Amino acid sequence: MKLMIMGPPGAGKGTQAERLVKELDITHISTGDMFRAAIKEGTEMGKKAKEYMDKGQLVPDEVVVGMVKDRLSQPDCAKGFLLDGFPRTVAQADALSTTLDQMGIKLDGVINIEVPRERLMARLTGRRVCKKCGASYHVLFNPPQKEGVCDNCGGELYQRSDDNEETVANRLDVYEAQTQPLIDYYQKRGLLININGDQDIDLVLQEILEALKK
Ligand code: AP5
Ligand code: MG
Repeated sequence: MKLMIMGPPGAGKGTQAERLVKELDITHISTGDMFRAAIKEGTEMGKKAKEYMDKGQLVPDEVVVGMVKDRLSQPDCAKGFLLDGFPRTVAQADALSTTLDQMGIKLDGVINIEVPRERLMARLTGRRVCKKCGASYHVLFNPPQKEGVCDNCGGELYQRSDDNEETVANRLDVYEAQTQPLIDYYQKRGLLININGDQDIDLVLQEILEALKK
């Protein structure tokens, strides 16, 4: 399957993506994770992206689009993929559509995780992420078995530098202004699958898998 998952920061895109790609045996493409990997490696692109990410702003479209195009052409995407955090603007969505047309690929669906804004701050400021495998936890809502240690791989958990109150508030505003219009965009194309993200993590996953069967 060729899928995309969208929703505001903290909606649970990464949490669900991690489970969905295992269930469906497809490749996870998270632009946020790709930028964090580039920052860790100290590449020029990583340095540039960090300036935007730390302010809660979007990295310029041309940087993101080029990176995703390259990624989609890798062999592991042939079995299917789940785009997480891309596209985030109408220009990115148009560029994706052109790229997929050129590759002869059609998106099967766009999963839109809905969570009221007032829930998102607590989810993000309490999030902890594995340094090694990128798995997401929450100090209250989804704690690891052992504090500070990843259940999956034993990696060390850390707090993302953009998960502070000020940056989160900016990210939420940027989402509403620039990414929310994509809900209409994909609705019009008959691809949108709305999912209630304000329920237990396992129930969200069940709802997505049920919806994908239809
Ligand atoms: P990115 O990494 O994509 O961040 P984001 O969109 O802000 O989304 P998050 O990763 O914060 O949230 P999520 O929905 O994945 O939630 P998670 O599952 O972790 O992007 C970061 C930055 O990179 C951007 O700000 C931008 O600068 C740049 N960037 C990336 N892509 C770009 C693009 N295309 N164009 C331009 N710039 C781009 O869950 C959050 C927390 O909630 C966790 O603690 C989790 O345990 C908990 N949780 C999850 N589900 C539930 C539940 N059902 N109930 C209770 N708690 C839950
Ligand atoms: Mg994420």
